[in-house]
Amino acid sequence: MIYSQKNQLSEINDSLFPNDNLKNYNTSQYPFSRILKSIFNVNNLDDLHNEVNSLNDFNADLGKDSESHYHKIFYKEIKKTDSELRNVWELFLENEVIKHFSCENSIVVQKLPNIRIHIPKGLAVKRWHCDSDQDHKHPLGEINSVIPLTKMFDTNSIWRESSPGKGDFKPFNLKVGEIIYWNGNTCIHGNKTNLSSKTRISFDFRVFPRNEYNKYIANPDNIQNSTATMGTKFIVGAYYKEIFKK
Ligand SMILES: [Fe+2]
Repeated sequence: MIYSQKNQLSEINDSLFPNDNLKNYNTSQYPFSRILKSIFNVNNLDDLHNEVNSLNDFNADLGKDSESHYHKIFYKEIKKTDSELRNVWELFLENEVIKHFSCENSIVVQKLPNIRIHIPKGLAVKRWHCDSDQDHKHPLGEINSVIPLTKMFDTNSIWRESSPGKGDFKPFNLKVGEIIYWNGNTCIHGNKTNLSSKTRISFDFRVFPRNEYNKYIANPDNIQNSTATMGTKFIVGAYYKEIFKK
């Protein structure tokens, strides 16, 4: 990003670090929030906590942090190849995400996004970590992305450091219609207890630039690596899919 562009962005959003890459998309074309409201049967996503009886499903540790009623609805819907949510997701990858990596002929992306639901007094993700650490085992070279589906701010947001080991944690300050690419691969990040009165809902997924993926996959030892929670291999056809520029 050239300096003047970055400077302009800084005026709009001072929560960003120099290596972040913020993009916008058209929410009418890719109406993720509208679809979630419909499948969750709520009027406002950021008031979702009013429908929740217990914090228990929203404070769980790694491997058990996606088991609430709402997580289950989301994953069931996005796994259905003919659902509106899935179709919009596929179009978003093919038309928008690929554009954000203009120097690549193809990109390798996490097939389906994760959803995070961070309700007041809750923790969407309990452990502070970086994705390449021993608990998560993600390949080096991945780029993280977050798509806010409600406003992300203060303690309902993701807090992260600017570069590995720096410890200068600050939260993303993001709104619906934005998508951020950042380094969660080697920068520590995590959640604080949500002290705001609003639920944060966001998607996240990883992009593996094709040349980085090639380097990773060239090492035969890496072929067996898999996700810590589901044991899905970090290869195209399993955890990832490849998307080509049209
Ligand atoms: Fe992470």
